[in-house]
Amino acid sequence: MDRAERLALSIASGMLVVFLAAVIFAVAKLDIKLPTCLTSMQPFESGEVIQHTADRFEIHYLAMMWSFEPEEVEIPRGATVDLYLTSEDVLHGFQILGTNTNLMAVPGTVNYARVHFDKPGKYRIVCHEYCGVDHQSMAAEINVVEH
Ligand code: CUA
Repeated sequence: MDRAERLALSIASGMLVVFLAAVIFAVAKLDIKLPTCLTSMQPFESGEVIQHTADRFEIHYLAMMWSFEPEEVEIPRGATVDLYLTSEDVLHGFQILGTNTNLMAVPGTVNYARVHFDKPGKYRIVCHEYCGVDHQSMAAEINVVEH
């Protein structure tokens, strides 16, 4: 190993020890609480499809490890959909393939998008933010049908 590499490794190791010691000191002696990634806030607790008129829909999406609720939704072609999205656990992604809709599902908060579906077909929704061991199977679908 090169001398410069050894020096960089020593400095990095030393900084790691100092950082860990500072965290342990802060928690044990200064009684500083470490932040957690989970919130107890829950804007809504289940997924829901609300139909206002023949072509106006509102969908409340709940993201969770590792699915979306509701998992399948059928709407008529030409419908305008207001999407409200939250997460019950960790950060998730929410992308409707074939559209420009791309949101983050954030615990404790609601994100919003309005989508207009002009073309019939099956629109797959995928999670695009790594969220755990089964991230790759996290998906849902909006089926846009002729009426
Ligand atoms: Cu949810 Cu990745």
